[in-house]
Amino acid sequence: MDYIFDVNLLKNRVILITGATGDIGKCVAITYVKCGAKVILLGRNFCELNNLKNHINSIRKFSANSYVIDMNKLTYNSAKKFVSKIRNKYIKLNGILHNSGDLGLLLPIKKYPVFLWKRVIRVNLDSVFILTKLLLPLLLRSSSSSLLFTTSSVGRIGRAYWGAYSISKFAIEGMMQILSLEYKDTSLRVNCVNPGQIRTKMRALAYPNEDVSLLNNPIDLMPMYLYLMSNDSIKKTGFSFDV
Ligand SMILES: NC(=O)c1ccc[n+]([C@@H]2O[C@H](COP(=O)([O-])OP(=O)(O)OC[C@H]3O[C@@H](n4cnc5c(N)ncnc54)[C@H](OP(=O)(O)O)[C@@H]3O)[C@@H](O)[C@H]2O)c1
Repeated sequence: MDYIFDVNLLKNRVILITGATGDIGKCVAITYVKCGAKVILLGRNFCELNNLKNHINSIRKFSANSYVIDMNKLTYNSAKKFVSKIRNKYIKLNGILHNSGDLGLLLPIKKYPVFLWKRVIRVNLDSVFILTKLLLPLLLRSSSSSLLFTTSSVGRIGRAYWGAYSISKFAIEGMMQILSLEYKDTSLRVNCVNPGQIRTKMRALAYPNEDVSLLNNPIDLMPMYLYLMSNDSIKKTGFSFDV
């Protein structure tokens, strides 16, 4: 995507990013802060999250806060406690990027373990629903806000062996469509983004034998991820974007 943007594109915008320590998440968090945003980083690994927060705050002071949350263990009650901390600290949100994702295993449905099905659905769908439900009031306090879900090509057309992951991404596409209609006359826009084939840990798990030199890198996604969080995409809602 060709997108010319100002370095202050996201100045003072408060954006929550899940899966912040992942390859795409980390790149997005740093890029958003370089464009002026304040970021709320969510991840499950305390050390990695802390390192990222410190790195970001060395780029721009007081730009990042982090919260350890394992999406597999998130409950409605634990999410309520987290959201009340966010509400007290930030009052409103300008954006959420739901980026964390669990691939599970590539197996036929017949052999798909029930425990793994539950984990993937909890991480990729249930936690996204719970956090979105609780954070919507904070998004609606902003004069323009962007709720962005991460989808995949296997969330649009089913692919054999992609099981719970694929099905969770179909559900995310549905959640995006429903929310975009429910909030169509408000300042909140709701979209999905499909990163495509990107060189990350998850991609390496899914395609261990491919030539990684042929893949794009997270940095190549940044124009699209910036556009979707900026006011330049203010009229776009209900879309599933490919990078
Ligand atoms: N790479 C691609 O080609 C591609 C294509 C289509 C869609 N996507 C989507 O892009 C998003 C980012 O993935 P990625 O490619 O950047 O892979 P990644 O580097 O593996 O990032 C995945 C992120 O999800 C986090 N996560 C997984 N399980 C979690 C849990 N139980 N609780 C909290 N966080 C959890 C990981 O945490 P840790 O950092 O602790 O591991 C990591 O931060 C995902 O939603 C993925 O489905 C990627």
